[in-house]
Amino acid sequence: MSIIDKPIGVFDSGIGGMTVLKALTEAMPNESFVYFGDSARVPYGTKSAPVVKQFSLQNSLFLLKHNVKLIVVACNSASALALQFLQERLSIPVIGVIEPGVKALMKESAGDPVGVIGTRATISSGAYQNAIKKYDENRKIFVQPCPLFVPLIEEGMTNGEIPIKIAEYYLNSMKLERIGALLLGCTHYPLMREVIAQVMGEAVTVVDSAGTTAESVKEELKQRGWLKSQGFPSLDFYASDVSSEIERRSRAFFGGELPVVKKVEFEVADFWV
Ligand code: DGL
Repeated sequence: MSIIDKPIGVFDSGIGGMTVLKALTEAMPNESFVYFGDSARVPYGTKSAPVVKQFSLQNSLFLLKHNVKLIVVACNSASALALQFLQERLSIPVIGVIEPGVKALMKESAGDPVGVIGTRATISSGAYQNAIKKYDENRKIFVQPCPLFVPLIEEGMTNGEIPIKIAEYYLNSMKLERIGALLLGCTHYPLMREVIAQVMGEAVTVVDSAGTTAESVKEELKQRGWLKSQGFPSLDFYASDVSSEIERRSRAFFGGELPVVKKVEFEVADFWV
């Protein structure tokens, strides 16, 4: 198979990365994708860097077995803690969501202070703060881990009194800083965008990294001459655990129909250690 015809690999700690997969499929309708959600080991946002690096490498090796031409790390926590680690070890391009997210944030903030929210792992890694400083070293940055958002969203509680109260709890102090734009630095948060935008108020533009990540991937493929402009795309969906809920929740994240999820058999996938 020529490289251009190979699929793009995407992994996330679970199914939240479907928000990124959606943007990728829309931006590159002729490309095939292999998605791996590490649903057996989610969440990554509460784990240490060595563990997230190990899981991320295993996920990438799984995707490499499926002959992918490029890997997208859709998970913010894995992008924050393991992107460079993967890039140094893999012979194919690996693209994360941090740089593209910052690009979207800077575009929407017009020189104003900016905010970033994410998991504890993402925020405490400093990855977003460092990437923003590379763009504009004098920019005021406010960050806030919002650890309750992921379980809330996983429960489908994306609207109403409880999510609003929790969002106020996390975001009220950032609101006082008069930021111009807020980046949703987590795969899950786009599903709570309405509540977050409501709490932050009209003066704050809420952005996510899905669209700009898709643009970066497309640009990388174009530059390499690997972008497919015709053909029949396929989508394969793998997960390390398959519960009765996974397909319904995945569709909610993806915002559309998905193929049947295939469970990765640990004994068959010999990369599992
Ligand atoms: N995918 C993770 C992220 O974007 C959120 C869920 C988790 O903690 O693993 O940071």
